[in-house]
Amino acid sequence: MATMILHSSLLSLTSAAKITSLSIAVVRSDSSPSRPSSPVAVPYQSLTPSLLCSCGRRHLIQACATALLPISPSHATPLLSDSTAMLNRVHPPRPDWYEELYAAVLDKGMEAYEAEIAGYKSQLFSNLRGKAKKVLEIGIGTGPNLKYYANGTDIEVFGIDPNMKMEKYAKAAAVASGLPPTNFKFIHAVGEALPLSDAAVDAVVGTLVLCSVKDVDTALKEVKRVLKPGGLYLFVEHVAARDGTVLRFLQNVLDPLQQTVSDGCHLTRETGKHIFEAGFSGVNISSTSLRNAFVASPHVYGIACK
Ligand SMILES: C[S@@+](CC[C@H](N)C(=O)[O-])C[C@H]1O[C@@H](n2cnc3c(N)ncnc32)[C@H](O)[C@@H]1O
Ligand SMILES: *[C@@H]1O[C@H](CO)[C@@H](O)[C@H](O)[C@H]1NC(C)=O
Ligand SMILES: *[C@@H]1O[C@H](CO)[C@@H](O)[C@H](O)[C@H]1NC(C)=O
Repeated sequence: MATMILHSSLLSLTSAAKITSLSIAVVRSDSSPSRPSSPVAVPYQSLTPSLLCSCGRRHLIQACATALLPISPSHATPLLSDSTAMLNRVHPPRPDWYEELYAAVLDKGMEAYEAEIAGYKSQLFSNLRGKAKKVLEIGIGTGPNLKYYANGTDIEVFGIDPNMKMEKYAKAAAVASGLPPTNFKFIHAVGEALPLSDAAVDAVVGTLVLCSVKDVDTALKEVKRVLKPGGLYLFVEHVAARDGTVLRFLQNVLDPLQQTVSDGCHLTRETGKHIFEAGFSGVNISSTSLRNAFVASPHVYGIACK
């Protein structure tokens, strides 16, 4: 994210061109994780909602709420010690000053981005209104999403993040959104090993986080594990630009720097593809380009249902 700021002048050159990229597999309904499908790559331009999901969004949600979905074979619930071990493995503590600086930059530096994405987020998170009592947010950071879904007294939110310096910002955001302090828990953990039991939450939220986890597929497996059958996973992620574009070239060049200044954030991940292949029973994914994200302008966002 800091790269967005550092390179804003350079990147505004490329952000002027609306570049979308998506190479995605069709949704599969079997959830066997061991047999990867052969992905059918479709250019973004030809992606139509009917390809992504045979039903309307409202229907997707209703189907999720009522379907008798087979409960996928559950992985063992990680013990707290397992989740701490994974935390230390995939996100060992950074120097204090680095974690504090990154948290402060996220807190202050995302205003233009958040303003641009506000419309998408209000639409996306309206899907949770009245439906989700227990929500987990992975990589909650400073908590910019809480105001969209956490303003009810009967909502309980768990926010996990490996950066402890995010806690005070996230807690303040929870209070500001109208959530009673006792209904928000900040948990020091990573997405790859969630310290929650199977089928513990109604919804999982994650924005700009699969760019930063060490292992996208493991994190998605964990998302599915902690969701109740029919539970919803709401996501907004920046992704790789299409191969062969100028933007993709820039992303390739800047990727190592981005990882250094933005705590492991990758610019060239095809996250939409991973979400499609994660074995959710339904996925509705859209893509867009956000000027204020500069080199990270290509985005996917949407909703998946366990
Ligand atoms: C770009 S920030 C996004 C924060 C927030 N979700 C937002 O939309 O502004 C990425 C966040 O992911 C966290 N993170 C990094 N590695 C992670 C992991 N393995 N699991 C979960 N969160 C992680 C970072 O500490 C940081 O808060
Ligand atoms: C998918 O989501 C988009 C944007 O939220 C919505 O307009 C569309 O109707 C949904 N499509 C399906 C097939 O659910
Ligand atoms: C939460 O916020 C939304 C949008 O601002 C509003 O429509 C809704 O009534 C609020 N809910 C509660 C419980 O305050």
